Amino acid sequence: MKTIAIAGKGGGGKSTTTTNIAVIAHRAGLKVGLLDTDPQGSTRDWRRARGTADIPVQSSDGTRLKEALARAERAALDGVFIDMAPAIDAHALSIIGAADFVILPMRPTILDLGVTRKWIELLRSAAKPFGVVINGASPRRQGEDAPMVRDARSALRRIGAPLWSGQITNRVSIACSAIGGRGVAETDPIGPAAAEYAALWRGINRILDTNRRINNVYPTPHAA
Ligand SMILES: Nc1ncnc2c1ncn2[C@@H]1O[C@H](COP(=O)(O)OP(=O)(O)O)[C@@H](O)[C@H]1O
Ligand SMILES: [Mg+2]
Repeated sequence: MKTIAIAGKGGGGKSTTTTNIAVIAHRAGLKVGLLDTDPQGSTRDWRRARGTADIPVQSSDGTRLKEALARAERAALDGVFIDMAPAIDAHALSIIGAADFVILPMRPTILDLGVTRKWIELLRSAAKPFGVVINGASPRRQGEDAPMVRDARSALRRIGAPLWSGQITNRVSIACSAIGGRGVAETDPIGPAAAEYAALWRGINRILDTNRRINNVYPTPHAA
C-alpha cells in the first residue's frame, strides 16, 4: 500500500487534489481510500455528497493515525491519500512520517509560496520525497505559462524544489464536480481538467516506481 499525503496552505487545493487524483486512481482500477485529517472535513463532506463508499473515507486525528492506516492495510487498499490540515504541528509530523510521498499543491501567489517554502524545509529535514503542484493557475496560452505561474516556478526553481511541469488550471468544472461528491474525471471525463489530473497521477506513479527501484538497489536506505 502506498501512502500519499497532500499538504500545504489552506485553500491551496489539498482537498480538491486529494479527491480528484483518488478518482483518477479508482477509475484506473486501483483500490484507494482517503483519510481526512483536517477538522474542516472537506473530504468527509465530499464522501457524504458522493453517497457511495466506492472510495472509502476515514476521519483521523494524530492519535488515531496508526489505526486508520492499519484499517486501510487490512482492507487491502493499493493506495491511501491523506488530506491534511494546514497546520504544521506534531500531528502533521506524524502524517509526514507515515507517508511515502507528499504532494504540495499551491496557488501561484506570494502567500502560497511562503507557506510552501516552510513545508519544503520540513520535508527536506525529514528526507521525505515530495513534489510541488501548481494549482488554480490561469490557463496556459499557446503553451506558455501565465506570468504568475512563471514567477512561482522561478522562485521554486531557485530553491531547487521538485516541481511538477504541468499545472492544474483554475476551472469551474473542478469546483462543480465536488457538488455531487465526484471528481472532474467523472463529471467531465474527456475535458481538459481530467487530462491535467491524469497527467499528475502518471507523474506521481513514475516517482513512486523510481523510489521502489532505488529501494531495491539499496535495500537498506536508512542505514546509508
Ligand atoms: N483547480 C481549481 N479550479 C477551481 N476551483 C478550485 C481549484 N482548486 C481548488 N478549488 C476550489 O478552491 C477552494 C479551496 O480548495 P480546497 O481543495 O478546499 O483547498 P484546501 O483543502 O487546501 O483548503 C474550494 O472551494 C475548491 O473548490
Ligand atoms: Mg481541505
